[in-house]
Amino acid sequence: MDQDQLKQAVARAAIDHLVPGAVVGVGSGSTVGFFIRELGRVRDRVGGAVSSSEHSSTLLRAQGIPVLSIEQAGPMPVYVDGADEIDAGLRMIKGGGGALTREKIVAAAAERFVCIVDRSKVVPVLGAYPLPVEVIPMAVGLVARWFAAIGGDARPRGGYVTDNGNPILDVHGPSIVDPAGM
Ligand code: A5P
Repeated sequence: MDQDQLKQAVARAAIDHLVPGAVVGVGSGSTVGFFIRELGRVRDRVGGAVSSSEHSSTLLRAQGIPVLSIEQAGPMPVYVDGADEIDAGLRMIKGGGGALTREKIVAAAAERFVCIVDRSKVVPVLGAYPLPVEVIPMAVGLVARWFAAIGGDARPRGGYVTDNGNPILDVHGPSIVDPAGM
């Protein structure tokens, strides 16, 4: 199977984790794009979705799935999202697509996180992928200096602004995401 076929396979498998009739939390990224298509096939059994990005909201609406706020949703048994890296302890790096803050908020509102990844995302130690950090504009320089002080190289993601209107720092340096190794 190529990578897209693997993404589709994990997306399809995630459908088995949904609670019939319940609202589902939906992450962002290309793997989630496959998941949203699978959700469309079972839309009659989906009570709506809380979305983590404007892009995912557009895809959900295209599948006929109502997009709800956290307040409108009420109990949310499951949140489904991808990851950029994941280790054996289920620690992850997320945010390659820039939706990390909303993703973490929607995940926190759900009872369970079902992470869908193909094998390329599974690593022995996190940190080959830079750690994305969303920062409000006035704090960019300050936060970058704080990361530098602990061995991180925080680089602004050029030309990118999150759905919240903020820049992202991509922080390079394994000690940043592997505190045990510091
Ligand atoms: C989006 O901000 C990310 O956290 C994604 O979940 C992550 O980047 C995985 O994306 P892909 O499924 O496109 O690899």
